[in-house]
Amino acid sequence: ARSLRAHADARGFLVGCAVDPGHLAAEPGYSASVAAQANIVVCENAMKWAALRPAADRFDFSGADDVVVFALSHNQKIRGHNLCWHEALPSWFAGAVTRQNAQQILVEHIRTVAGRYAGKMHSWDVVNEAVRIEDNRIDGLRNSPWLELAGPGYIELAFRTARQADPQALLTYNDYGIELDTREQIEKRGQVMMLVRRLRARRVPIDAVGIQSHLTAGDPLPGAGLVDFVRELRQMGLQVFLTELDVNEQKLQGDVAARDAAIAQVYRDYLTMMLAEPNVTAALTWGITDRYTWLTKKKPRPDGAPQRPLPLDPDFQAAPAFFAERAAL
Ligand code: XIL
Repeated sequence: ARSLRAHADARGFLVGCAVDPGHLAAEPGYSASVAAQANIVVCENAMKWAALRPAADRFDFSGADDVVVFALSHNQKIRGHNLCWHEALPSWFAGAVTRQNAQQILVEHIRTVAGRYAGKMHSWDVVNEAVRIEDNRIDGLRNSPWLELAGPGYIELAFRTARQADPQALLTYNDYGIELDTREQIEKRGQVMMLVRRLRARRVPIDAVGIQSHLTAGDPLPGAGLVDFVRELRQMGLQVFLTELDVNEQKLQGDVAARDAAIAQVYRDYLTMMLAEPNVTAALTWGITDRYTWLTKKKPRPDGAPQRPLPLDPDFQAAPAFFAERAAL
């Protein structure tokens, strides 16, 4: 079967997946699948703070470097994920980072990490998941360690620093729970739009919005509200990346074939709708094979059956979702 990568290359689109350096090194079936199917990759965890910064005074770039070397040698683009997030902070963070030094530590981190890979990255998720409606702030921002310690200007600071450190990477704001036209998600999407508009009004360098796209089969599909959001971003000159696509089946009943078909239908409908928008320029799944998906831990099925959210099955064979994704490209 022709690959996702071949289909995407033929129409000038970016398609790919999140990867893990350990699996790339240890499993030929895994690395061959990533090489064949992706023209862009992102580290699932290896560029997060916790992975890069085992101690306050020491960086460990080994896993991240391995992924960059793999990608460059397979002629793949690379997304960076991420420079600033409230999760995956190393254990030394609490205590060592204070209101006195938080801005400086954030700046130094971004200079070091984005600087190391400058010129090699397609894009960076500069700030991840900074909006949270439940925290009830007028600006929509999440009560995160970064907000508490560095203040609400931390987002602007992160983007300005990233642009300086790597002028070529497309700078992205990335978030989840903004896909559906439900009351909660419409509200959150609105706050993300307000954040982007505030940044633009202050001439903060931002090039793209990442829509994570962790979808659930059995939920209402994303619809017109999301398309409007993408079009509004287009009018502002911003690209949109689908950054972490997967389809969980926690709510599905039936046998594996029926569940796979329902998952594939979400892939087909979602990607067909989104790829019709000219500023949607990349789609990455959050992993390539059901053998390794964060959903196994994050959203276990009540009956204990494994989740099958990704294009390739646990044996690296094309699943219905693969053909649905390919047909949408
Ligand atoms: C997840 C990884 O997939 C897991 O392996 C890890 O234990 C936790 O983080 N949104 C994001 C990603 O932006 O970084 C998260 O990745 C999934 C949700």
